[in-house]
Amino acid sequence: MAIYFLPKPPFFLNLFLIMFPWMVKAYMTDADALLRIKQSLNNPEPLDSWKLGTNPCDDLLTWVGIVCNKGIVTNLHLKSMSLSGNLDLTALSQMAGLRIISLENNSFSGPIPGFNKLGSLKALYLSINQYSGEIPSDYFTDMTSMRKIWFDGNKFTGKIPSSIAELPNLVELHLEDNQFSGTIPAIGQRSLNSVNLSYNNLTGEVPPGLAKFDASSFEGNPGLCGAKFGKMCDKVNPRTPKSTEKSSKKALRMEYILMAVTLLILILMIVGIYILRKRRKRNSETIGIMEGNPEGSVGLTICNISKPEAIPGQNGFGTGQKTLMARKKSTGVDLMLLNNSKGVFRLSDVMKAAAEVLGNGMLGSSYKATMSNGVVVVVKRLKEMNLVDKNGFEAEMMRLGRLNHPNILTPLACHYRKDEKLVIYDYIPGGSLLYILHGKH
Ligand SMILES: *[C@@H]1O[C@H](CO)[C@@H](O)[C@H](O)[C@H]1NC(C)=O
Ligand SMILES: *[C@@H]1O[C@H](CO)[C@@H](O)[C@H](O)[C@H]1NC(C)=O
Ligand SMILES: *[C@@H]1O[C@H](CO)[C@@H](O)[C@H](O)[C@H]1NC(C)=O
Repeated sequence: MAIYFLPKPPFFLNLFLIMFPWMVKAYMTDADALLRIKQSLNNPEPLDSWKLGTNPCDDLLTWVGIVCNKGIVTNLHLKSMSLSGNLDLTALSQMAGLRIISLENNSFSGPIPGFNKLGSLKALYLSINQYSGEIPSDYFTDMTSMRKIWFDGNKFTGKIPSSIAELPNLVELHLEDNQFSGTIPAIGQRSLNSVNLSYNNLTGEVPPGLAKFDASSFEGNPGLCGAKFGKMCDKVNPRTPKSTEKSSKKALRMEYILMAVTLLILILMIVGIYILRKRRKRNSETIGIMEGNPEGSVGLTICNISKPEAIPGQNGFGTGQKTLMARKKSTGVDLMLLNNSKGVFRLSDVMKAAAEVLGNGMLGSSYKATMSNGVVVVVKRLKEMNLVDKNGFEAEMMRLGRLNHPNILTPLACHYRKDEKLVIYDYIPGGSLLYILHGKH
């Protein structure tokens, strides 16, 4: 990278860091990071020994408060230096080897900085500062290396962050002399050997995992109860009725929710039934009732397939159109459903279906029609029935529809018009068409 060939002056460095912030990580050394941290302090005089151009890990240990290991800064000990300001956390996070930070007995204030971005930290000493406000409950979630937490002597408020309970290697926990309140989370790591939660405003019971620490680890919390404090927190306490009240309130709320859900389901059911009924009504209306146009396009499909020989070698489309017009003028009676084992469908559904000629027989032609809903039927156009009248035809079809003989395929629907008689059967792959053709006729 070209940047390595640049001269030392910080002007260029800063320019580059501003222009290419992603290079910060690649370039920033521990010395650079420390100098930026020094710059971020309000009163950095105690750190005068941190000088540009010298090495913080020099054997002579000329940089105050710095501990190194094999040339990498591991500890930052800035105890009792009257320091304050907003520490440059970006710079801090560039120090990959940093494991221990001590800012003990200084004047840092405000909410807790994002030290939790330094995931490898093992010890954090913030004792005796002016930090205040709540610590987010998940603050320690990513600090799994954390062994020592010393936050005593600040002004922290709110609950003790529950993520402390999940630190697997925690050894020392010092939160005394703050204003933490509420109950103590279920802290109880076996690794713990020093705990002090004294002089806060904690309430309730000490979690079982902390029972091994004696009362002097908890003193100055008037709300704590248990054998340690000569104050029983048994269930007859004023806490109990409160909690039952709460739970009964909860139950009541639950009941309301259940009621609302039931009501909603009922309404949905009623609406559903209404829609279903309306649809069914419409269906039964359309079947067997006069209808104008939908069959139009349809007639075309069937005609083109059914009478290829009838089209005298010329533009088939024109012919189709003509028959279409003729049909429109005649009646537009829909299908008469004989059997709804294949669901309810209309003449238009059959006509729009992809059709395939199965055969032209003595009694008429047959087509295989695959409807858009996937149902496959056989459409049989009857020639010889032209002599039969409508009532006779339909009566015969209804009779067939009721038949349940293994050798006779029962028709699903039929269609009667003066110039067109159709019978629709269920399609049976590989089945012989012969028995379709041989009804009683
Ligand atoms: C805190 O630091 C001050 C100097 O800033 C010093 O006088 C004092 O003794 C220190 N207190 C503790 C408890 O270390
Ligand atoms: C301690 O907490 C209680 C509520 O639990 C509150 O009323 C009281 O003011 C708090 N005391 C202090 C010193 O913060
Ligand atoms: C806990 O801290 C309080 C106040 O600083 C102190 O009096 C007490 O001795 C400490 N107890 C332990 C076990 O460290």
